Amino acid sequence: MASGYNQPPMTVTVRSFAKVNLGLSIGGLRADGFHELRTAYQTIGLHDVIRVSVERGSGIEIRCSDDRVPKDESNTCHRITEKVMSALRVTGRVAIEIEKRLPVQGGLGGASSNAVAAMLGLEKALKKTLPAADRLRVAAEVGSDLPLFLVGGTVLGVGRGEQVYPLEDLPATACVVVTPEVGVSTPKAFAAWDRKLTVPGASDRMIGLGRELSAWLSEKYSGAPRGPRGRAENPLLELVRAGIKNDFEEVVFPEYPELREGKLALERAGARYASLSGSGSTLYGLFASKDAGGRAAARLRKQGWAAEATVTLTRWQYWGAFRLGRAGTE
Ligand code: C5P
Repeated sequence: MASGYNQPPMTVTVRSFAKVNLGLSIGGLRADGFHELRTAYQTIGLHDVIRVSVERGSGIEIRCSDDRVPKDESNTCHRITEKVMSALRVTGRVAIEIEKRLPVQGGLGGASSNAVAAMLGLEKALKKTLPAADRLRVAAEVGSDLPLFLVGGTVLGVGRGEQVYPLEDLPATACVVVTPEVGVSTPKAFAAWDRKLTVPGASDRMIGLGRELSAWLSEKYSGAPRGPRGRAENPLLELVRAGIKNDFEEVVFPEYPELREGKLALERAGARYASLSGSGSTLYGLFASKDAGGRAAARLRKQGWAAEATVTLTRWQYWGAFRLGRAGTE
């Protein structure tokens, strides 16, 4: 018999959005085996759909028709569900269905986003809420890339990426995502970075990204005129053009030359900024308009790339579109 859960079964359906990294600087290897990093995360419109249902009994069941997604206790949704049930001191039989649309191991934070969506869907299904600080702690315990999805929009990530701070919401900007077929292992990409770390100045560069973000933010609030004739352009494009970059490109591109090709293809298709997201293999480009993004995606597909046009999501849009609905009680 469930304690604290004695409602009829109900299914909560939520969207699990992806993120891209607007710059990522890797610092030194820490004593805990993680790397210090600085990044700006940006949520985008591509998403999976997560359905959470709870009924009397016990156990956690993960359902997904994609063979690449583990269904056992290693699944991030499984791991977070255990933690949430124990933090809320409830029992019940939880089923989580993952409708996979995002690439697996793609640098878009799919598995991390799925877990946060499962946590919030589970809270809704249980009609219970974890305090915000507990949510952040539980999310960070499951992985470095989870807490950002509790903020949404444009998010500063520091520490191992799990310490998150909302940045000023940037306007929705056209974005094209290219998903090459290769999967890149994040731990292996970090290890490749460590072998490169004999290059002096890696940590200085990490501090550099923090400085660029800080300069950009303070300029925004200083009231100083920007751009030609004082007309400010899209602040997201302004930010990425400050010269921010993703350090993973230095170790991932030499190993997977087709990914460098993908970035060049995005640039040739008119991207104002193109980059690897996280450790890849996903690449994305930012475009001046929705039309330009749509045309670029069509052109890239003609060239054989798996390309999809989407848009970056402000925090408000992220939370506005998060909840898909609640199937009635059975
Ligand atoms: O936190 P998460 O589970 O996503 O990390 C997966 C692996 O990536 C870690 O075990 C670690 O090897 C590596 N990692 C790292 N530094 C970070 C984040 C992840 O070395 N900041």
